[in-house]
Amino acid sequence: MQYPAAITLSVRNRKEDLYMENKLYDVKPFNSLSKKVSSASSNQGSLDMSLSLMIKALIICDDEQVKSALEELLKAVKNLDIHFENKVSFVTENYSLAIIVFTGEEQQTILDIEKVSNSGASIILIGDTLPQGLLRKALQLSIKDVVPLETAEDELIPAIQQIANQLSQHANLAPVISVINGKGGSGASFITNSLGQVISDRSEHEIALFDADLQHGSLADSMNLKPSYYLDDALEEVKELDSTAIKSMMVRRNNLSLLPVKAYSQLNRLAHIDQNRVNQLLGKLRLSYRLMLADLSRGVDSLSVPIIESSEHVLIIIQQNIVSIREAKELVEQLKNTMGIDGEKLHIIVNRFSDKYSTISVDDIRKTIGINSVFKISNDYQLASSCTELGKPLNELSNSKHLTEELLEIIKNIMPLDIKHDSKPQGFWAKITGKK
Ligand SMILES: Nc1ncnc2c1ncn2[C@@H]1O[C@H](COP(=O)(O)OP(=O)(O)OP(=O)(O)O)[C@@H](O)[C@H]1O
Ligand SMILES: [Mg+2]
Repeated sequence: MQYPAAITLSVRNRKEDLYMENKLYDVKPFNSLSKKVSSASSNQGSLDMSLSLMIKALIICDDEQVKSALEELLKAVKNLDIHFENKVSFVTENYSLAIIVFTGEEQQTILDIEKVSNSGASIILIGDTLPQGLLRKALQLSIKDVVPLETAEDELIPAIQQIANQLSQHANLAPVISVINGKGGSGASFITNSLGQVISDRSEHEIALFDADLQHGSLADSMNLKPSYYLDDALEEVKELDSTAIKSMMVRRNNLSLLPVKAYSQLNRLAHIDQNRVNQLLGKLRLSYRLMLADLSRGVDSLSVPIIESSEHVLIIIQQNIVSIREAKELVEQLKNTMGIDGEKLHIIVNRFSDKYSTISVDDIRKTIGINSVFKISNDYQLASSCTELGKPLNELSNSKHLTEELLEIIKNIMPLDIKHDSKPQGFWAKITGKK
């Protein structure tokens, strides 16, 4: 079969006459990909991209130039763990994605596709002017996408992203809701804890709380729980953890479980967070629970970044004063412009709201920060300190009705989970009669 010039050249490249060939001909596809990629990666302003779940990918490519161009291109993709092979011998690892590059050897590529498709991985085929036989085989084995080498720089990452989205829907990953302080001390921990209680009280599902405050992690105390397993233990052994192990190690109250953090963790083993491990842990937690709420009291740091990137919604906690609003506006800019977070995912919670002590209205806040979705939680010192200081559950406090209604308003509007408006029936008789 007669291959197009560019492909024939790449086959000759492996015959060590690369330099001469490149001088004599224009090795367009492979060179253009490496050139474009190196200029893109030197672009300081370019945003990294994060997949919705951790994807282990096998790349089959026997051309060194293309290999290094792909490596360079995919460096910017977080949550993508890539391994290269020249050809498929035996797919031992559990790959969910395979990227197979056609460099001229039709029979070998068909063989590679056949072997990989047996392993169940989704396949993307890369190559220009693909031979009919290969295309037919690719269709028969229902590969997910074909990306021309020449436009791979623009098209490959969106193709991977699309497969990751399909896989995460299939994997039924729990949505993540992050609760982040616009300014320290605004009430992120109190609100994360209260939301967790109100939701778990009204849902049969397993809900997880993730304490991501490496300095003053306080959720275990305010939930009155005595943990023996912490975030740093989970990160240490994340590779071995499965759904049952995670669930049995987390400390729980009914269907609300907590992954706590030891106070001053950033001074020891967690000083250098391995974001890859954080992403793996998030993936495993999201497979084991139906909703995950993360307390990001400290704001944006190396632990909270991967959590924010995985979040369906980010609740920014502020208070009703100028400094807090100004800092929240700054945070919103950072989240949108530096991290590339969609503004639709951002919500403002004005905590300790009071008409009596401040004239700043919800509408003023909405306009100043530039976020439409704004909720308020009233100031109630006695109630808040019963929860945060004494670790009392909300449903045992007689004065928690108003706070519960305000929290339900947030939940109803943004939580991607069906919950009952009333709390679950309590006690044995209630369970069998269905009455409260
Ligand atoms: N709505 C509220 N009304 C009255 N007091 C509140 C309210 N929300 C929180 N508080 C109080 O404010 C204090 C700080 O709350 P919390 O610990 O939740 O804040 P945080 O943002 O997590 O702080 P940090 O930045 O230190 O982690 C606590 O004493 C809590 O009881
Ligand atoms: Mg806190």
